Formats: sequence, structure tokens, C-alpha cells
Amino acid sequence: MDTTVEMDIEIKEVKESKISEVDFNNIAFGNIYTDHMLIADYKEGSWQDVKIVPYEDLKLSPATSALHYGQSIFEGLKAYRNEQREEEVLVFRPWENWKRLNESAKRICMPELPEEIFMQGLEELLKLDKNWVPKGRGKSLYIRPFMFATDAYIGLKSSETYRFMIFASPVGAYYSQPVKVKIENHFVRSANGGVGYAKVAGNYAASLYPAKLAQDEGYNQLLWTDAKEHKYIEESGTMNVMFMIGDTLCTAPAGDTILHGITRKSVLELARDWGIKVEERFVSIDELIDAIEKKELKEAFGTGTAATIAHIETIHNDGIDYQLPEIEARDFSNKVLKELTEIQRGKKEDTREWIFRV
Ligand code: COI
Repeated sequence: MDTTVEMDIEIKEVKESKISEVDFNNIAFGNIYTDHMLIADYKEGSWQDVKIVPYEDLKLSPATSALHYGQSIFEGLKAYRNEQREEEVLVFRPWENWKRLNESAKRICMPELPEEIFMQGLEELLKLDKNWVPKGRGKSLYIRPFMFATDAYIGLKSSETYRFMIFASPVGAYYSQPVKVKIENHFVRSANGGVGYAKVAGNYAASLYPAKLAQDEGYNQLLWTDAKEHKYIEESGTMNVMFMIGDTLCTAPAGDTILHGITRKSVLELARDWGIKVEERFVSIDELIDAIEKKELKEAFGTGTAATIAHIETIHNDGIDYQLPEIEARDFSNKVLKELTEIQRGKKEDTREWIFRV
């Protein structure tokens, strides 16, 4: 890790904020951006030129290496308005995002980012754009840190220069309704030894076509299965997935093939603290369908920063739509959503040091 970082952040503020143009009562997911963005550049072996500037388009060479060979990684985290102290903004587990960014960076041969650039950069950006953190149920400021290769060179090699950026977007719910998912038994998202665990841009690109086929049939997302046999459930394209089978919470293990989700990790920590039996193991399609048919599957839900806790209402497998138990009867996922929401919005004490305050 580089230790020669100059942490003076140069700040150029907007002349006039765009905030008055935003209708905060009608925000969807991910199409409005705050006034500022953070930029840091990696060159000659170190991170430098950390600055915050007005949000604007980037000027890039057509030969920019990330555009051709996909050396590009990202993160997603959320800031919430403290419901007890409106002037304070609460960020959920940003240190975990910094760590995961560096795990992703390592896997695709990018330089690691020092913690102070991530954390101080985030803090300064939020101080400037604090007013953009929306109030109200289901609303938050979605923060998108990302890093990409910037060499203008089209030979295949790891770039020597990179850019790290953070920008932010006031958002509403990613899924406004319980979701319908389809079990994928042909295409593959991720395989052992691959990059499926990392937040690598290409993972998402590769998921788009199979997901679109399912969306054309009326499903919101896929349930990906393992690459070798299409026998075991892994995750959904936008979130990890969990099943309450009997009284046991089951989810795929955080190995090579599923995203190491921060919401996933938080839900498992809460479940264990509440004395719920947790099994991090692969659930086969046969086991899942059998549990649905025997009414042993009590709950199925996705976990993700954007998705939060997304109830799954329908699972499609092999020509059959299976309807899952009604949402009101889902004790665990409703309780865990409430608990996370209360911690994230300052209604419940942060006893686990999950919250960063700005
Ligand atoms: C997130 O949940 O933060 C993600 O990056 C998922 C993305 C599909 C919005």
C-alpha cells in the first residue's frame, strides 16, 4: 500500500447548486447526481491529486484501457439522514466498502487505494453535499466509489495509471415491490477461480443479457446457479439471496463465486446475535423446490446495498412459477429490515460500530 499520499484535498465548489431542480418526493434509483464528485489519480506508482470538483462529464481518450479490457471496479454504499439529529448524516459500514474495493482491485491487477483517500474523500464530499441526503422512508443517498484504468493504450496489459472517483445520487427504493426471480440453468455468472466475488464491472455486463431474457418474461432478476452443474443457487445479479428453511437461515458461502455482500454480512451478524441458526452453504434447486412444496420455505429474500432487503415473492424453475409465503408472515426478513433501517437512520444505537457520522 502506498504511504506517500498527499492528503490535502483541493476543493472547487459549484457556483450554484442544482438541488432546487430536484423533486425529492419523486426520486427513482440512480438518475440524479449531487453537485460534487471526488477524483484521485494514480500515476508513477502513487495516488495523487485528490480533489473535489463540480459534478461533470469526463473527458477520456478513445483508447482508455478500461473501455476495452474492463479494468474497472466499483462499490455501492448509502448515507442516511439521522432521524434524531437532522443535521447529521450516517454512513453504513464504509470501511467494509473500502476493504472490498481493495480486494476487487487486487484481483484485477489494480493498485490498492489508501484508506484515507476513501474515508476522508467520502467525508469531505458528504460535508459539501449533505443537503442532498434525502429524508423519508426508503430514501437515502447512494454513494458510488469506483476505479478504472486510464492508460491510453490498446495493447493488453495492466494499466499504469488509474482514476478513483466518488459521486453520489439521492435514491428511492431499487425494488419498489417484492421481486419475481427465475432460476438460471444455462448461462453462468461466475465460476471457481473467477472474479464473481469481486465488484468487477464485467460481472454486471455479463449478467445483462441473461437477465434481459428473464425480464422479457416478466421476472425482475435471475437466481444464478453454479457454473459446473447448474444445481446449486448462488446469488441474484443485484443482490445476495437468503432462504429461511424451517428455522434455519441458509445462504451461499462467501467463496469465489458470490459477491461478498456487506448487507449479507450484516444480516448474518444480526441473525447470529438473535440466536437464529445460520448455515452458509449451497442450497440445491431440488432442496429449494422440495422445501417450497412441503411449505418448509418460510422466507426468501435478497440482500444488497441498493436492494436493501428485497422480499422474493415468486421463484420460477423449469416452467413452473412457485408462489412463496405472504410477505406479512415473514418474521425474520421483516424484523431484520426494521433493525437495519433503525440503525442506519439513528433510531437505534449503533452498538456494532457500523456507522460513520458526518
Ligand atoms: C449495490 O447494491 O450497491 C450494487 O452495486 C448493485 C447494483 C446493481 C446497483
